[in-house]
Amino acid sequence: MNQTKPLSRLAVLTSGGDAPGMNAALRAVVRATLARQGSICGVIGGYSGLIHSQFQELDTRLMGNIIQRGGTMLKTGRCLEFLKPEFRAQAAANLKTKGIEGLIVIGGDGSFHGAHLLFLEQGIPVVGIPGTIDNDIFGTDLTIGFDTAVNTALDAIDRIRDTATSHDRVFIVEVMGRNSGFLAAAVGLAGGAEEIFVPEFPFTLDKVVAKIKAGADRGKKSSILVAAEGQKPGRAYDLAEQLRKKANIEAKVCILGHQQRGGAPSATDRNLATRLGVAAVDVICSGVSDVMVGLHADKVMTTPLSHGLEQKKGLSREFLKLASLLSN
Ligand code: F6P
Repeated sequence: MNQTKPLSRLAVLTSGGDAPGMNAALRAVVRATLARQGSICGVIGGYSGLIHSQFQELDTRLMGNIIQRGGTMLKTGRCLEFLKPEFRAQAAANLKTKGIEGLIVIGGDGSFHGAHLLFLEQGIPVVGIPGTIDNDIFGTDLTIGFDTAVNTALDAIDRIRDTATSHDRVFIVEVMGRNSGFLAAAVGLAGGAEEIFVPEFPFTLDKVVAKIKAGADRGKKSSILVAAEGQKPGRAYDLAEQLRKKANIEAKVCILGHQQRGGAPSATDRNLATRLGVAAVDVICSGVSDVMVGLHADKVMTTPLSHGLEQKKGLSREFLKLASLLSN
Protein backbone atom coordinates (compact mmCIF):
# COMPACT_ATOMS: atom_id res chain seq x y z
CA MET A 1 0.00 0.00 0.00
CA ASN A 2 1.50 3.31 -1.01
CA GLN A 3 0.70 6.84 0.05
CA THR A 4 1.28 9.35 -2.72
CA LYS A 5 -0.17 12.77 -3.51
CA PRO A 6 -3.96 13.21 -3.83
CA LEU A 7 -5.29 12.78 -7.37
CA SER A 8 -8.05 14.44 -9.35
CA ARG A 9 -7.80 13.22 -12.96
CA LEU A 10 -8.56 9.52 -13.34
CA ALA A 11 -9.13 6.80 -15.92
CA VAL A 12 -11.25 3.68 -15.55
CA LEU A 13 -11.35 0.44 -17.51
CA THR A 14 -13.09 -2.94 -17.44
CA SER A 15 -10.97 -6.00 -18.16
CA GLY A 16 -11.27 -9.81 -18.43
CA GLY A 17 -14.64 -11.53 -18.70
CA ASP A 18 -17.63 -9.20 -18.46
CA ALA A 19 -19.76 -9.48 -15.32
CA PRO A 20 -23.22 -8.11 -14.50
CA GLY A 21 -22.75 -4.98 -12.39
CA MET A 22 -19.66 -3.67 -14.19
CA ASN A 23 -21.76 -0.79 -15.56
CA ALA A 24 -23.11 -0.01 -12.10
CA ALA A 25 -19.50 0.11 -10.82
CA LEU A 26 -18.53 2.40 -13.71
CA ARG A 27 -21.42 4.73 -12.96
CA ALA A 28 -20.38 4.92 -9.30
CA VAL A 29 -16.71 5.56 -10.16
CA VAL A 30 -17.53 8.32 -12.65
CA ARG A 31 -20.11 10.13 -10.54
CA ALA A 32 -18.03 9.88 -7.37
CA THR A 33 -15.05 11.38 -9.23
CA LEU A 34 -17.16 14.23 -10.61
CA ALA A 35 -18.64 14.86 -7.16
CA ARG A 36 -15.08 15.58 -5.99
CA GLN A 37 -14.64 18.10 -8.83
CA GLY A 38 -12.30 15.63 -10.59
CA SER A 39 -12.42 14.47 -14.19
CA ILE A 40 -12.36 10.97 -15.65
CA CYS A 41 -11.71 9.14 -18.93
CA GLY A 42 -12.99 5.72 -19.88
CA VAL A 43 -10.55 3.36 -21.58
CA ILE A 44 -12.31 1.44 -24.35
CA GLY A 45 -11.61 -2.31 -24.56
CA GLY A 46 -9.60 -2.89 -21.37
CA TYR A 47 -5.79 -2.97 -21.43
CA SER A 48 -5.76 -3.13 -25.22
CA GLY A 49 -7.42 0.30 -25.26
CA LEU A 50 -4.78 1.56 -22.86
CA ILE A 51 -1.97 0.41 -25.16
CA HIS A 52 -3.66 1.81 -28.27
CA SER A 53 -4.81 5.04 -26.61
CA GLN A 54 -8.57 4.47 -26.88
CA PHE A 55 -9.92 7.01 -24.40
CA GLN A 56 -13.33 8.59 -24.01
CA GLU A 57 -14.06 11.50 -21.68
CA LEU A 58 -16.90 10.47 -19.35
CA ASP A 59 -19.56 12.75 -17.92
CA THR A 60 -22.54 12.24 -15.68
CA ARG A 61 -25.08 12.05 -18.54
CA LEU A 62 -23.23 9.16 -20.18
CA MET A 63 -23.73 7.26 -16.93
CA GLY A 64 -27.53 7.64 -17.11
CA ASN A 65 -29.62 4.50 -17.63
CA ILE A 66 -26.74 2.03 -17.29
CA ILE A 67 -27.10 0.85 -13.67
CA GLN A 68 -29.45 -1.93 -14.80
CA ARG A 69 -27.48 -3.03 -17.87
CA GLY A 70 -25.42 -6.22 -18.12
CA GLY A 71 -22.06 -6.31 -19.95
CA THR A 72 -19.84 -3.24 -19.90
CA MET A 73 -20.32 -0.08 -21.94
CA LEU A 74 -16.52 0.36 -21.94
CA LYS A 75 -16.07 -3.05 -23.65
CA THR A 76 -13.60 -5.54 -22.23
CA GLY A 77 -11.16 -8.24 -23.20
CA ARG A 78 -8.20 -10.35 -22.22
CA CYS A 79 -5.07 -8.59 -23.50
CA LEU A 80 -2.01 -10.76 -24.14
CA GLU A 81 0.12 -7.75 -25.17
CA PHE A 82 -0.18 -6.38 -21.64
CA LEU A 83 1.85 -9.35 -20.36
CA LYS A 84 4.91 -7.68 -21.97
CA PRO A 85 6.69 -4.80 -20.17
CA GLU A 86 7.17 -2.74 -23.35
CA PHE A 87 3.39 -2.55 -23.84
CA ARG A 88 2.86 -1.61 -20.20
CA ALA A 89 5.36 1.21 -20.74
CA GLN A 90 3.37 2.34 -23.79
CA ALA A 91 0.16 2.25 -21.73
CA ALA A 92 1.75 4.40 -19.01
CA ALA A 93 3.00 6.90 -21.61
CA ASN A 94 -0.54 7.17 -23.05
CA LEU A 95 -1.99 7.83 -19.59
CA LYS A 96 0.57 10.56 -18.94
CA THR A 97 -0.12 12.19 -22.31
CA LYS A 98 -3.80 12.41 -21.35
CA GLY A 99 -2.86 13.99 -18.02
CA ILE A 100 -4.25 11.01 -16.10
CA GLU A 101 -2.95 10.62 -12.56
CA GLY A 102 -4.54 7.33 -11.53
CA LEU A 103 -6.27 4.27 -12.98
CA ILE A 104 -9.20 2.26 -11.64
CA VAL A 105 -9.39 -1.31 -12.95
CA ILE A 106 -12.65 -3.28 -12.76
CA GLY A 107 -11.91 -6.97 -13.38
CA GLY A 108 -10.56 -10.26 -12.05
CA ASP A 109 -7.19 -11.48 -10.82
CA GLY A 110 -5.49 -11.38 -14.25
CA SER A 111 -6.56 -7.74 -14.58
CA PHE A 112 -5.27 -6.98 -11.08
CA HIS A 113 -1.93 -8.56 -11.94
CA GLY A 114 -1.61 -6.14 -14.88
CA ALA A 115 -2.55 -3.19 -12.64
CA HIS A 116 0.01 -4.21 -10.02
CA LEU A 117 2.78 -4.35 -12.66
CA LEU A 118 1.74 -0.96 -14.06
CA PHE A 119 2.22 0.47 -10.59
CA LEU A 120 5.51 -1.33 -9.85
CA GLU A 121 7.18 -0.66 -13.19
CA GLN A 122 5.70 2.67 -14.22
CA GLY A 123 4.58 4.23 -10.93
CA ILE A 124 0.98 4.65 -12.13
CA PRO A 125 -1.36 4.79 -9.10
CA VAL A 126 -3.92 1.97 -9.44
CA VAL A 127 -6.92 0.68 -7.50
CA GLY A 128 -8.80 -2.55 -8.36
CA ILE A 129 -12.52 -3.27 -8.11
CA PRO A 130 -13.27 -7.02 -8.15
CA GLY A 131 -15.63 -7.86 -11.03
CA THR A 132 -15.99 -11.49 -12.12
CA ILE A 133 -18.76 -14.07 -11.96
CA ASP A 134 -16.23 -16.55 -10.52
CA ASN A 135 -16.02 -14.94 -7.04
CA ASP A 136 -12.44 -16.23 -6.85
CA ILE A 137 -10.66 -13.07 -5.70
CA PHE A 138 -8.86 -13.03 -2.39
CA GLY A 139 -9.60 -9.80 -0.51
CA THR A 140 -13.37 -9.76 -0.89
CA ASP A 141 -16.24 -11.98 0.26
CA LEU A 142 -18.11 -11.21 -2.96
CA THR A 143 -17.15 -10.14 -6.45
CA ILE A 144 -19.39 -8.05 -8.70
CA GLY A 145 -21.40 -10.35 -10.98
CA PHE A 146 -21.33 -13.48 -8.84
CA ASP A 147 -24.78 -13.09 -7.30
CA THR A 148 -26.42 -12.45 -10.67
CA ALA A 149 -24.65 -15.41 -12.29
CA VAL A 150 -25.75 -17.70 -9.44
CA ASN A 151 -29.35 -16.64 -9.95
CA THR A 152 -29.14 -17.00 -13.74
CA ALA A 153 -27.77 -20.53 -13.44
CA LEU A 154 -30.30 -21.37 -10.75
CA ASP A 155 -33.16 -20.30 -12.97
CA ALA A 156 -31.83 -22.69 -15.65
CA ILE A 157 -31.49 -25.55 -13.15
CA ASP A 158 -35.07 -25.10 -11.94
CA ARG A 159 -36.24 -25.47 -15.54
CA ILE A 160 -33.99 -28.48 -16.18
CA ARG A 161 -35.38 -30.08 -13.04
CA ASP A 162 -38.87 -30.01 -14.61
CA THR A 163 -37.58 -32.10 -17.51
CA ALA A 164 -35.44 -34.33 -15.29
CA THR A 165 -38.49 -35.14 -13.16
CA SER A 166 -40.89 -35.59 -16.09
CA HIS A 167 -38.54 -38.01 -17.89
CA ASP A 168 -36.86 -39.67 -14.87
CA ARG A 169 -33.47 -38.51 -16.06
CA VAL A 170 -30.06 -37.76 -14.63
CA PHE A 171 -28.73 -34.36 -15.74
CA ILE A 172 -25.24 -32.95 -15.43
CA VAL A 173 -25.42 -29.17 -15.55
CA GLU A 174 -22.10 -27.47 -16.27
CA VAL A 175 -21.57 -23.97 -14.93
CA MET A 176 -18.63 -21.60 -15.44
CA GLY A 177 -15.60 -21.46 -13.17
CA ARG A 178 -12.36 -22.24 -14.92
CA ASN A 179 -10.24 -22.61 -11.81
CA SER A 180 -12.74 -22.25 -9.05
CA GLY A 181 -15.94 -23.84 -7.81
CA PHE A 182 -17.64 -20.94 -5.98
CA LEU A 183 -20.32 -20.66 -8.65
CA ALA A 184 -20.90 -24.44 -8.84
CA ALA A 185 -21.09 -24.72 -5.04
CA ALA A 186 -23.59 -21.87 -4.63
CA VAL A 187 -25.73 -22.97 -7.58
CA GLY A 188 -25.59 -26.65 -6.60
CA LEU A 189 -26.69 -26.09 -3.02
CA ALA A 190 -29.45 -23.63 -3.94
CA GLY A 191 -30.59 -25.90 -6.79
CA GLY A 192 -30.84 -29.02 -4.61
CA ALA A 193 -28.15 -30.89 -6.58
CA GLU A 194 -27.26 -34.46 -5.64
CA GLU A 195 -23.56 -33.86 -6.25
CA ILE A 196 -21.37 -30.84 -6.95
CA PHE A 197 -18.07 -31.23 -8.82
CA VAL A 198 -15.50 -28.46 -8.33
CA PRO A 199 -11.84 -28.13 -9.35
CA GLU A 200 -10.74 -27.66 -5.72
CA PHE A 201 -11.75 -31.13 -4.46
CA PRO A 202 -11.35 -34.53 -6.13
CA PHE A 203 -14.33 -36.88 -6.28
CA THR A 204 -14.73 -40.64 -6.55
CA LEU A 205 -16.93 -41.88 -9.33
CA ASP A 206 -17.82 -44.98 -7.30
CA LYS A 207 -19.36 -42.80 -4.60
CA VAL A 208 -21.38 -40.83 -7.16
CA VAL A 209 -22.64 -44.04 -8.76
CA ALA A 210 -23.51 -45.51 -5.35
CA LYS A 211 -25.43 -42.36 -4.48
CA ILE A 212 -27.46 -42.33 -7.70
CA LYS A 213 -28.22 -46.06 -7.34
CA ALA A 214 -29.17 -45.79 -3.67
CA GLY A 215 -31.51 -42.94 -4.60
CA ALA A 216 -33.07 -45.04 -7.37
CA ASP A 217 -33.61 -47.90 -4.89
CA ARG A 218 -35.53 -45.48 -2.68
CA GLY A 219 -37.72 -44.48 -5.62
CA LYS A 220 -35.80 -41.39 -6.65
CA LYS A 221 -35.75 -41.45 -10.43
CA SER A 222 -34.13 -38.15 -11.39
CA SER A 223 -30.95 -36.40 -10.31
CA ILE A 224 -29.23 -33.11 -10.96
CA LEU A 225 -25.45 -33.03 -10.76
CA VAL A 226 -23.69 -29.67 -11.01
CA ALA A 227 -20.15 -29.44 -12.39
CA ALA A 228 -17.77 -26.49 -12.69
CA GLU A 229 -16.39 -26.40 -16.22
CA GLY A 230 -12.72 -26.78 -15.25
CA GLN A 231 -9.96 -25.81 -17.64
CA LYS A 232 -12.13 -26.20 -20.74
CA PRO A 233 -15.89 -26.12 -21.23
CA GLY A 234 -17.26 -29.62 -21.86
CA ARG A 235 -15.99 -31.41 -18.75
CA ALA A 236 -19.57 -32.53 -18.09
CA TYR A 237 -19.41 -34.71 -21.24
CA ASP A 238 -16.44 -36.60 -19.76
CA LEU A 239 -18.36 -37.13 -16.54
CA ALA A 240 -21.39 -38.40 -18.45
CA GLU A 241 -19.20 -40.80 -20.40
CA GLN A 242 -17.62 -42.12 -17.21
CA LEU A 243 -21.06 -42.71 -15.67
CA ARG A 244 -22.18 -44.56 -18.79
CA LYS A 245 -19.10 -46.77 -18.95
CA LYS A 246 -18.86 -47.45 -15.25
CA ALA A 247 -22.49 -48.02 -14.32
CA ASN A 248 -24.61 -47.82 -17.46
CA ILE A 249 -26.15 -44.59 -16.18
CA GLU A 250 -27.33 -42.34 -19.01
CA ALA A 251 -26.87 -38.70 -18.04
CA LYS A 252 -27.96 -35.75 -20.17
CA VAL A 253 -25.53 -32.87 -20.30
CA CYS A 254 -26.50 -29.20 -20.28
CA ILE A 255 -23.71 -26.60 -20.54
CA LEU A 256 -24.97 -23.20 -19.44
CA GLY A 257 -22.00 -21.29 -20.90
CA HIS A 258 -21.90 -17.56 -21.49
CA GLN A 259 -25.55 -16.89 -20.69
CA GLN A 260 -24.29 -16.89 -17.07
CA ARG A 261 -22.27 -13.75 -17.79
CA GLY A 262 -25.08 -11.64 -19.23
CA GLY A 263 -28.30 -10.08 -18.03
CA ALA A 264 -29.38 -7.30 -15.70
CA PRO A 265 -27.40 -7.27 -12.45
CA SER A 266 -29.22 -8.29 -9.27
CA ALA A 267 -29.83 -5.74 -6.51
CA THR A 268 -26.97 -7.33 -4.55
CA ASP A 269 -24.57 -6.81 -7.46
CA ARG A 270 -25.73 -3.25 -8.16
CA ASN A 271 -25.30 -2.26 -4.52
CA LEU A 272 -21.95 -4.01 -4.21
CA ALA A 273 -20.75 -2.32 -7.41
CA THR A 274 -21.95 1.06 -6.17
CA ARG A 275 -20.27 0.75 -2.78
CA LEU A 276 -16.99 -0.50 -4.21
CA GLY A 277 -17.00 2.05 -7.03
CA VAL A 278 -17.33 5.00 -4.65
CA ALA A 279 -14.78 3.46 -2.25
CA ALA A 280 -12.24 3.01 -5.08
CA VAL A 281 -12.45 6.72 -5.91
CA ASP A 282 -12.13 7.70 -2.24
CA VAL A 283 -9.07 5.47 -1.89
CA ILE A 284 -7.20 6.58 -5.03
CA CYS A 285 -8.06 10.26 -4.52
CA SER A 286 -6.69 10.10 -1.00
CA GLY A 287 -3.34 8.98 -2.42
CA VAL A 288 -3.50 5.27 -1.57
CA SER A 289 -2.54 2.97 -4.43
CA ASP A 290 -1.71 -0.60 -5.49
CA VAL A 291 -4.72 -1.93 -3.55
CA MET A 292 -8.11 -3.41 -4.33
CA VAL A 293 -11.36 -2.60 -2.58
CA GLY A 294 -13.50 -5.46 -1.33
CA LEU A 295 -16.23 -6.44 1.08
CA HIS A 296 -15.53 -8.24 4.39
CA ALA A 297 -18.45 -8.98 6.70
CA ASP A 298 -20.39 -6.23 4.92
CA LYS A 299 -17.67 -3.63 5.42
CA VAL A 300 -15.68 -2.09 2.57
CA MET A 301 -11.96 -2.71 3.08
CA THR A 302 -8.76 -2.45 1.06
CA THR A 303 -6.23 -5.22 0.42
CA PRO A 304 -2.81 -4.70 -1.20
CA LEU A 305 -2.92 -6.09 -4.75
CA SER A 306 0.19 -8.14 -4.00
CA HIS A 307 -1.61 -10.02 -1.15
CA GLY A 308 -4.51 -10.90 -3.39
CA LEU A 309 -2.17 -12.14 -6.09
CA GLU A 310 -0.10 -14.26 -3.70
CA GLN A 311 -3.00 -15.89 -1.87
CA LYS A 312 -5.84 -17.99 -3.20
CA LYS A 313 -9.34 -17.55 -1.86
CA GLY A 314 -10.26 -20.96 -0.47
CA LEU A 315 -13.55 -22.69 -1.20
CA SER A 316 -14.95 -24.37 1.89
CA ARG A 317 -16.42 -27.88 1.63
CA GLU A 318 -19.49 -26.75 3.56
CA PHE A 319 -21.84 -26.28 0.59
CA LEU A 320 -20.75 -29.59 -0.98
CA LYS A 321 -21.33 -31.48 2.27
CA LEU A 322 -24.74 -29.88 2.83
CA ALA A 323 -25.84 -30.64 -0.72
CA SER A 324 -24.80 -34.25 -0.33
CA LEU A 325 -26.44 -34.62 3.08
CA LEU A 326 -29.78 -33.20 2.00
CA SER A 327 -30.20 -34.65 -1.47
CA ASN A 328 -32.07 -37.75 -0.40
O1 F6P B 1 -13.38 -15.49 -15.62
C1 F6P B 1 -14.74 -15.62 -15.81
C2 F6P B 1 -15.09 -16.76 -16.71
O2 F6P B 1 -16.45 -16.62 -16.86
C3 F6P B 1 -14.72 -18.16 -16.30
O3 F6P B 1 -15.57 -18.75 -15.37
C4 F6P B 1 -14.75 -18.89 -17.59
O4 F6P B 1 -14.03 -20.08 -17.51
C5 F6P B 1 -14.15 -17.89 -18.50
O5 F6P B 1 -14.51 -16.62 -17.98
C6 F6P B 1 -14.58 -17.99 -19.94
O6 F6P B 1 -14.04 -16.92 -20.63
P1 F6P B 1 -14.22 -16.58 -22.18
O7 F6P B 1 -15.11 -15.42 -22.26
O8 F6P B 1 -12.87 -16.24 -22.62
O9 F6P B 1 -14.80 -17.78 -22.84
